[in-house]
Amino acid sequence: MADARVVETLLQRIEKAQDGVESLNVACSLGVDHQVIVGAVKSLQSLGEIISAELRSSKHWELTEEGKEIAEQGSQEARVFNAVPLEGLTQSDLMKLSFGKIGFSKAMSNKWIRLDKGHEGGPRIFQTVENIEDQVREKLLLVQKGISSNLDEKEKNELKKRKLLTEVTVKSYWITKGNSFSTTITKQETELTPDMIATGSWKEKNFKPYNFDAMGVAPDCGHLHPLMKVRTQFRQIFLEMGFTEMPTNNFIESSFWNFDSLFQPQQHPARDQHDTFFLSDPALALELPQDYLERVKRVHSEGGFGSQGYKCDWKIEEAQKNILRTHTTAVSARMLYKLAQQEKFTPVKYFSIDRVFRNETLDATHLAEFHQIEGVVADYGLTLGDLMGVLHQFFTKLGITKLRFKPAYNPYTEPSMEVFSYHEGLKKWVEVGNSGVFRPEMLLPMGLPEDVSVIAWGLSLERPTMIKYGINNIRELVGHKVNLQMVYDSPICRLDS
Ligand code: PHE
Repeated sequence: MADARVVETLLQRIEKAQDGVESLNVACSLGVDHQVIVGAVKSLQSLGEIISAELRSSKHWELTEEGKEIAEQGSQEARVFNAVPLEGLTQSDLMKLSFGKIGFSKAMSNKWIRLDKGHEGGPRIFQTVENIEDQVREKLLLVQKGISSNLDEKEKNELKKRKLLTEVTVKSYWITKGNSFSTTITKQETELTPDMIATGSWKEKNFKPYNFDAMGVAPDCGHLHPLMKVRTQFRQIFLEMGFTEMPTNNFIESSFWNFDSLFQPQQHPARDQHDTFFLSDPALALELPQDYLERVKRVHSEGGFGSQGYKCDWKIEEAQKNILRTHTTAVSARMLYKLAQQEKFTPVKYFSIDRVFRNETLDATHLAEFHQIEGVVADYGLTLGDLMGVLHQFFTKLGITKLRFKPAYNPYTEPSMEVFSYHEGLKKWVEVGNSGVFRPEMLLPMGLPEDVSVIAWGLSLERPTMIKYGINNIRELVGHKVNLQMVYDSPICRLDS
């Protein structure tokens, strides 16, 4: 019977019934599985108050497999009795029958048969009565027909002990009319169409409520985004080279750590609305290390440590402005300041790979957020040669061996170098990173020893990922247009092959 027909019939039964119907009875009289009625009850319940259904559980007796066999063929004892002819049967022949053993002992205790042990040719069995009544079978047939009420508890328990009956609990519904009972149900709409909006017909329609408890489709497994796959590889390279990962878990940064501590002048265009995202709430960072802040202010406005500074007013209000960090070098600055606070300086090698934000004009290769990879080494007497050496080692691990360096400018490094590598596919030199030796104007106010130098470099994570996975438009890699199939299908990343 189709579901709609079941629902209709069920509603008609409820209408006719005095005080309600029982779902099991309905299932039985319609000759359908109980689950079909349960389904109809659930779908009616979802429509509001058409019906009211109360869950009930009741116990009833059911025949076990052995019980069913007896109901069909008779009890073992009856079958033993019937197997014994007038002239008797040897005990050993009886025992060959499948029901022989149990049947023999039951028939003996019922006094239906006797055993003549001294019989020539071995112990022999004879009937002792003319007829028997197979009560066990009769009782089981009653249970099977659902009229077990004729049996008392003792009888049922005996059959249970013989493992012919089991008691099962069944759950059913007691169904009565609901407040808005009706035998005709209007189908609920599952979709709001443009047509309904245009004609205004949605006002008269009855919409099916969302079922937020429905189980979703379980995904087969998760997949790592290509950026995360490449990040894993870069992290591995840094770890192999003995670098420690810096904590980059703050997207919001003060201008102080993002720019001022890095000796980036307050008038620098990068600190403009057009390049940087400013926060409106909380607009200002109020906790900045006071002594250090004074030294930063002095080196910017008056100079010091052999530098002339910018000879410009330095305003704390500008340094306090909260922004979305524009580079992970802000984190490197925090870490180097922390290092300088140690009683005794110890050389360090740090790295980070995390997200940064810039107010860029979006195009095929630029988004307002991307990931930076950054390496920092602080030690006594490091030179530009050390920087070139460590860059060679780092890029070789990426499978990039042909490197060229081009003088560049960063407010916080001197000298600064852009890093180029020869791209075999494009047959030209492409920029792969930026680097430099941090300025004394940055390091000395922090309190680092004068003979300590810090070399550093940075690159984006998106650029190598796009090259590796052959993606030309960054919007296919990041954002709402990403094709999940691309994520599923991208193989794991091996940078050196
Ligand atoms: N912070 C630089 C950038 O955003 C990268 C860089 C890091 C340059 C370290 C020099 C040293 O491009």
